Amino acid sequence: MEVKGAKITKLAIMGGTFDPIHIGHLVTAEEVRHEFNIDEVIFVPTGHPPHKSNINMTTSEHRYLMTVLATAANASFKVSRLEIDREGVTYTIDTIKELKRMYGEEVRLYFITGADAIHKILTWKESEKLLQLCEFVAVTRPGHNKNELLWQIDELKRRYQTNIHFLEVPALAISSSNIRERIHHMKTIKYLVPEEVENYIKKYNLYEYRICLTPQEREHMCQYVSSKMSPKRYAHTRGVIEMALELAKIYQLDYDEVFIAALFHDVAKELPVQEKIALCQKYAVELDAFEALHMELAHGKLGAALLENEWGIYKSAVLDSIKYHTVGRLGMGDLEKVIYLADMTEEGRSPYKGKEQIKNLALYDLNRAMYKALSSSYNYVTNILKEEIHPITYELMAEYKPYDSK
Ligand SMILES: [Fe+2]
Ligand SMILES: [Fe+2]
Repeated sequence: MEVKGAKITKLAIMGGTFDPIHIGHLVTAEEVRHEFNIDEVIFVPTGHPPHKSNINMTTSEHRYLMTVLATAANASFKVSRLEIDREGVTYTIDTIKELKRMYGEEVRLYFITGADAIHKILTWKESEKLLQLCEFVAVTRPGHNKNELLWQIDELKRRYQTNIHFLEVPALAISSSNIRERIHHMKTIKYLVPEEVENYIKKYNLYEYRICLTPQEREHMCQYVSSKMSPKRYAHTRGVIEMALELAKIYQLDYDEVFIAALFHDVAKELPVQEKIALCQKYAVELDAFEALHMELAHGKLGAALLENEWGIYKSAVLDSIKYHTVGRLGMGDLEKVIYLADMTEEGRSPYKGKEQIKNLALYDLNRAMYKALSSSYNYVTNILKEEIHPITYELMAEYKPYDSK
């Protein structure tokens, strides 16, 4: 990293694993910048921190890039690769020395650290030297045992003639582990991390583990869905679950994800039109021009919005399979195809020409089954109902056509 521009006299260092970076980190950095009149705050994602032996830590590159995304909008925030590029175990003292070298000996350094770290400082490598080279800013969320911390700070100040500051930051009630936990349980992390970071996490499926629904959670979800529909529609839903789980076994998909997607696929189907319109507005559901004219098709996107907003589940593969089970979309994933096909072939659905063939194809080739299913829908809507079909159907048929002639 090169140091350019106006002379930096006060520099704050915000170290951390940033796994992932969240609003609490950003608020803290900004508060320190303001409080101590800092020129620049440098975020230094850790490489392999000596105090943490978490082998599951997200790769350095992901953590670095999320930190860059989160801090990009603040001209006073910079991100350093110092620790992630360093081989082996990294120590704070080495980073501090390096920053002194880069910014000049006279630069005043403030090292921001969690209050928990304060009582461990003396166990750090070259701790006495560290306390001479920089001032520590111990940050904590309100409610932490402040008295004990202040006592520790006084003790360190007295013994080492150093400056240690203390700052309470309410936003630090958020923690990275809590965010990982939320993702693990498919809860939303919106507004807890910057939007760019949220999108990045989704894009690379970071922190996503297998979902484990308890029997109670399953039961609760089933009750909710059945309360939104007629017994006939619920019987269809159970049929879709059964068929989708059979396909899940073949294509090795996550059972809980398949279960939730199948259960919720028609949750919004029988809601009164006025309620559908109101919910579309409430949850900012974006319908395309065709769907806006054919509100019966809106139940896919609306169902996904209910699952996301009323159940806090935001796993994109699950939401997309509900969203697009109505008319499909280009580039569907396996879960999307499974829900689409299970919907069309479940046991209880009235027989139609090609149903058995689609079902049999689905058991060994999802793409071939998709082509047959799309052709069947096309035929039914245009030739039997004599209605207009969603324009995406033509593109989808072209997408799956090559598999048909295999
Ligand atoms: Fe549906
Ligand atoms: Fe359905």
